[in-house]
Amino acid sequence: MTYDPGYTNTAACKSTITFIDGDKGILRYRGYPIEQLAEKADFLEVAYLLYFGELPTKSQHDDFSRMVMSHTFIHEQAKKFIDGFRHDAHPMGMFLSTVAALSTFFKEGKDIFDERNRLIQFHRMVAKMPTIAAFCYRHSIGMPFAYPDNDLSYSGNFLNMMFKKTEVQYKPNPVLERALDVLFILHADHEQNCSTTSMRAIGSSHCDPFTALAGAAAALYGPLHGGANEAVLRMLEEIGSKDNVPEFIRQVKAGEGKRLMGFGHRVYKNYDPRARIIKRIATEVFEVTGKNPLLDLALELERIALEDDYFVKRKLYPNVDFYSGLIYQAMKFPTEMFPVLFAIPRTPGWLSQWEEQILDPDQKIARPRQVYLGEDERAYVPMEERSA
Ligand code: CMC
Repeated sequence: MTYDPGYTNTAACKSTITFIDGDKGILRYRGYPIEQLAEKADFLEVAYLLYFGELPTKSQHDDFSRMVMSHTFIHEQAKKFIDGFRHDAHPMGMFLSTVAALSTFFKEGKDIFDERNRLIQFHRMVAKMPTIAAFCYRHSIGMPFAYPDNDLSYSGNFLNMMFKKTEVQYKPNPVLERALDVLFILHADHEQNCSTTSMRAIGSSHCDPFTALAGAAAALYGPLHGGANEAVLRMLEEIGSKDNVPEFIRQVKAGEGKRLMGFGHRVYKNYDPRARIIKRIATEVFEVTGKNPLLDLALELERIALEDDYFVKRKLYPNVDFYSGLIYQAMKFPTEMFPVLFAIPRTPGWLSQWEEQILDPDQKIARPRQVYLGEDERAYVPMEERSA
């Protein structure tokens, strides 16, 4: 046996989906550099690429988009689930519970070794995640649900379901719509991170993909993973002004229970290439929305951290979550929605990894070993003979 907590040095699978070189700051989906995909592709094109392994032709792209967009509605009964949550429930809790509940609507999802059936669930899940996410948000603010508009793009429709008020047809701002689409591309997959590993581990018991994906979303929720974007915003708000940055950094370095959220990564020991692209998108978004006042604070934090020996020695750089929240906030997404905004685009990545796992003849049910350090065998003691 090997003892490797956190699997820092254990490859648990072979994969052909995503490549990361953490020292060089390289990220590729199916061989295509993330920079090129973020520049030239749209999110559904990338979802197709992740699942099928090749970029779609024009007609494949059109068919795939039509198919996904035809599945955007959720059952009216599923809406009642969302209605049952308290108004102040965290949207991620509502989101992942509703995803799990979908397995009760699509019971055929269990038939995981049928290729066509898997594809139908893929279409459904990619399609329904934005709807569930937006409905959770509307529930939390007491607004009526805004139904999908399938004439809009994937990201445009999500903005519609989030922000539509009384207009007959919601028209997304094209800059914000494209920015969101690029953010979705950047979050679509990231090889064997905590949530993908959960997806694979749960899927290895051969349950349906809705249940496995709810587990993956649960793993994403934590502040060390996909909840970091929310944690970054809360951290920036707590720091409050540039003057407080040195003291905050001191507390992080002194290990006073604080981490510089949005910094550091298990694999990247260089600038996260996604963070670089996000910084560029931020400029475009702020031209439309006005600059997020927290931007200067974030830049100052980055500047000081990148010059500080503590962060340099440990190779801690900004990751994808450091700047994404500033954009989401400028686009009027509430902070609690940020982890959900991570879960929507990670769906095609999770499902592609899940399919690769269940079709891989090398794979078995996930079942690590342990190093037992507990008591040796001992005899049961009757309660009246036990001391406190
Ligand atoms: N602030 C301060 N110190 C840090 C940080 C940080 N953000 N990240 C790592 N360190 C220190 C850590 O204390 C340790 O120091 P020492 O060697 O003296 O004990 C060293 O750097 C190595 O850290 P680690 O915790 O062993 O590294 P890990 O690979 O287990 O953790 C991480 C990776 C992402 C959980 C961690 O860097 C972290 O907590 N970052 C903040 C949360 C965050 O931004 N998460 C989002 C990750 S990217 C999006 C995603 O895919 O989830």
